[in-house]
Amino acid sequence: MVDGFGPGRILLVTGKSAMRKSGITGKIIQELGPERVAVFDQVEPNPSALTVDRGVEICRREKSGLIIGLGGGSPLDSAKAMAALANNPGQAWEYLEGKELKHPGLPLIAVPTTSGSGSEVTPFSILTIPEKHLKFSLRHPILYPRVAIIDPLLTVSLPPRQTAATGLDVLAHALESLWSKNHQPLAALFAERAIELIFLHLVRAYRSGDDPAARIGMSEASMLGGLAISQTGTTAIHPASYPLTFDFDFEHGLACAIFIPSFFQINRPAIGDRLARLLRILDLKNLESLAGKIQTLMRELEAPIRLREIGVKEKDLSQLAERGIGKSTALNPVECRREDLEKILKEIF
Ligand SMILES: [Fe+2]
Repeated sequence: MVDGFGPGRILLVTGKSAMRKSGITGKIIQELGPERVAVFDQVEPNPSALTVDRGVEICRREKSGLIIGLGGGSPLDSAKAMAALANNPGQAWEYLEGKELKHPGLPLIAVPTTSGSGSEVTPFSILTIPEKHLKFSLRHPILYPRVAIIDPLLTVSLPPRQTAATGLDVLAHALESLWSKNHQPLAALFAERAIELIFLHLVRAYRSGDDPAARIGMSEASMLGGLAISQTGTTAIHPASYPLTFDFDFEHGLACAIFIPSFFQINRPAIGDRLARLLRILDLKNLESLAGKIQTLMRELEAPIRLREIGVKEKDLSQLAERGIGKSTALNPVECRREDLEKILKEIF
């Protein structure tokens, strides 16, 4: 398949060590031919704009004609931004701050090794600008990977905590897509099925990582969650989570999940019709049973439910609220201003 993109050189973008340790990187390089592959394996969690610039530099120097992103959301998001910027002048931070991507990027093949971000099927790349202490979202259709290779077997070695974190990220994607002001019927089908699969498979994948049926179910859920948000975007939960990942090294999916119960309560009066459909699909009687099911899931996955558990202090709440409002907050079905978010932060403190 790779040859369909021409005989040129390939840049393989991946995380710092996990993929090399597991031997997958080596296998891919051997398969493609070591002479045509350059490797950028310096992607950190919550990758910075600078990491993308370094990758683009290698890509240009090596005259790569194709990029392969391998790993979780961070390597995939970085690879997508590198592919886009390879043909667009300037630095990554300029595009995060609004510069327009004008030229089509290099073709990209995305190979996820976690079941969470859905990045392999979305037009987003989430990057940080460390000096600003913030995460930014690059959004553009040219960021869609040309090909996504979703092999659930690549996720079997994911440790339990990362399985829980990435799986709960999928739950946030599906719920946010479903209740977004941008909601639409096709995305709703994807989101509903993703939620159904999460309740069926996530706890099993967490407890028995090598259970293929559970990993297949979560890979499908992740892809569907990604397809759902690729149409609707996320809402208030994702921007609210970013300062927690940035300041407290709290995993992205867990940082989203900690807000799910509160936003579920706040949003439910505005989305009764959509939740009623979801209740029918999940064979649940009422919204209380769904809220209870979400809480049980978080408990079984040992996901933190209080901010103090991850080291947040009461004095941090005001600035977390200030920095937790982003572009997609406006898509929340119920208005969420800075003071509303601060109230939620106090509740879950
Ligand atoms: Fe996410």
